[in-house]
Amino acid sequence: MDLKSKLEELFEQNQAKIKGLKDLDQLNQTRVELLGKKGPITEVLRGMKDLDASERPKVGAFANKIKDDLQGAIQERKHTLEQAVINQKLAEETIDVTLPGDAVVSGTPHILAQIMDDIEEFFIGQGYQVIDGPEVEEDHYNFEMLNIPKNHPARDMQDTFYIDDQLLMRSQTSPVQARTLEVHDFSKGPLKMISPGRVYRRDTDDATHSHQFHQVEGLVIDRHITMADLKGTLLALAQHVFGADRKIRLRPSFFPFTEPSVEVDVSCFRCNGAGCAICKYSGWIEVLGAGMVHPNVLNAAGVDATVYGGFAFGLGPDRFAMLKYGIDDIRSFYQGDQRFLSQFQQEG
Ligand code: PHE
Repeated sequence: MDLKSKLEELFEQNQAKIKGLKDLDQLNQTRVELLGKKGPITEVLRGMKDLDASERPKVGAFANKIKDDLQGAIQERKHTLEQAVINQKLAEETIDVTLPGDAVVSGTPHILAQIMDDIEEFFIGQGYQVIDGPEVEEDHYNFEMLNIPKNHPARDMQDTFYIDDQLLMRSQTSPVQARTLEVHDFSKGPLKMISPGRVYRRDTDDATHSHQFHQVEGLVIDRHITMADLKGTLLALAQHVFGADRKIRLRPSFFPFTEPSVEVDVSCFRCNGAGCAICKYSGWIEVLGAGMVHPNVLNAAGVDATVYGGFAFGLGPDRFAMLKYGIDDIRSFYQGDQRFLSQFQQEG
């Protein structure tokens, strides 16, 4: 057989073989065998030396064409096989849109955090600063600076966790008043602050007592602040938290660091004052303690009580939340039970 026919036969056989190959590895192997140095085409080209010099260029050109065509066939097959692999992958990865979805569980801020954020926003809007204080506090700030000397009977109002003679777990947020008064520069303007945070008392936990709860302290000191300013501030707060129709009333009370001192009631938001179980049929609910800052507190902090004065209040976010949402056990706030907490999805 002459070389040309050999080449034609090589082409016919291998072209069919290439088209029948089913995977890329086999295809690659065929390419090496067919077109490599030890392959049949090289073999044929080697035989050219026996040809007539006039024949050589023609046969050479033909051999190269066959080589190119086979290479082309291999490329084409490679492309087809690669495409098939991609198509198979795509088919396997189709999404079944009829499958049920996985619910996305999103958390929500703790209800107490929500209430405190809301109260903070209210006061920030009125120009108050928000100031933090330590939970492990000095007896000095928790009591003495607040007109409660050592061994004074008023200490019994707050059963306290003492760490040693000097240190305790703060039983109220009022020490932040004393700390702030000490450093505030009144030549730069009045003092308007709130201080939200945790407080601790040696109470046995039950539905209405917790050894740990929250308070938001408020303090305003300037010249010419009166009890009417206190009342107006607390009325605006009560209406913000409990609804625009609320009224408040002040009843005389006692705190060592305020004089006069008051207990503040808000008109019942459930029965609107008519009388119901929530307000114990009185039409009023006690919500916080407040008063005009005692001169001893101002003087102890180095503030001239003959020039400056003002009001302070302390409210309990736990109690606010219990009233607002009809929660009857304060312990619910601290047990981390998702079934309870997830009821208070934040609006908006
Ligand atoms: N600190 C007081 C308490 O815990 C509340 C209070 C604060 C009262 C400020 C008057 C003024 O009972």
